[in-house]
Amino acid sequence: MPVVITGTGSALPSNIVTNDDLATIVDTSDEWIQSRTGIKQRHFKSEGQTTSTLATEAAENAMKSAGVTAADIDLIIVGTATPDLTFPSVATMVQANLGMEKGAAFDIAAACSGFIYALSVAESMMSSGKFKRALIIGSETFSDMIDKDDRTTYVLFGDGAGAVVVENMTDEEANGSGVIGTEIYSDGRYKNDLYASGGVSFNKTTGNIVMNGREVFKHATRAMSGLVTDTLEKYNITKEDIDWLVPHQANKRIIDATAKHLGLSSDKVVLTVSEHANTSAASIPLALDVAVKDGRIQKGDTIFFEAFGAGFTWASALVKF
Ligand code: ACO
Repeated sequence: MPVVITGTGSALPSNIVTNDDLATIVDTSDEWIQSRTGIKQRHFKSEGQTTSTLATEAAENAMKSAGVTAADIDLIIVGTATPDLTFPSVATMVQANLGMEKGAAFDIAAACSGFIYALSVAESMMSSGKFKRALIIGSETFSDMIDKDDRTTYVLFGDGAGAVVVENMTDEEANGSGVIGTEIYSDGRYKNDLYASGGVSFNKTTGNIVMNGREVFKHATRAMSGLVTDTLEKYNITKEDIDWLVPHQANKRIIDATAKHLGLSSDKVVLTVSEHANTSAASIPLALDVAVKDGRIQKGDTIFFEAFGAGFTWASALVKF
């Protein structure tokens, strides 16, 4: 059964922090941050906001856009690396916030690739018909994890959440729309190039981000190009068939390299890194919602999603919207 995206939504904290604001805290500059990453500003959560409250807001907006209520949802999957608590999951917190008393809800830990991993798992669970309608959410509050003693990572991250409603349909109902295919990969040998330095069974802390930026950059660029080639080959489509690239928003230079490999001009790339910075698992559904709401992405468009993150993990999804 085709699994179709029927609604999108997002949530961004109102607190906007510019590069100049950060330059009052760490030794950096707007020029350095923009030229290396494309980031101009990010949103940081305010008092009382958490990963689950942002996820709930994004979910409510996605349900509104799909024209459904919580009673219609039977599955929630949240991609996150910054949960409110070690357990229970953010997904079950969202479930309670939405007033749902049925269905299944769980989180996926795949760092920046979390949203595509969640979409991939949902598609497997739904295409058999076992679940009818799901909320797939990426939500993060990295502002709690950045370390002002490390200016390289301090300037990269932001908070936010994005969500989609996906539904399994008959071929007739789907009318050509649906997830065409998802690819998920990981290689745990690169653990030490990107990680959070805390954990329950390691040191009972949440830790800070530790990143070997150059290695991440190198592997991300290579993995994204590989994903493009593999996906086009596997689904027998050409570069011309792709209407939109909606990439993980970590770094404009990585996105530019992927777009070049796809032969896509910059007006076919949804770019939000300048406004949102890197919101990890939230960045793709946030960017998707922006481009759907402003009318760029239309029903029937073919979208290529791709992401790279800690693990290393990397993933892509090809979707007929
Ligand atoms: N402001 C000013 N100068 C800085 C800053 C800063 N914020 N950070 C580092 N510098 C300095 C360094 O100290 C260094 O100075 P030096 O030459 O005097 O020693 C110089 O800038 C260059 O530092 P590099 O780390 O080599 O900078 P680079 O050009 O590699 O850019 C960056 C760093 C932007 C992090 C880049 O490597 C990158 O984008 N990597 C990929 C990151 C990424 O995509 N992460 C996504 C995954 S995140 C996740 O999964 C949770």
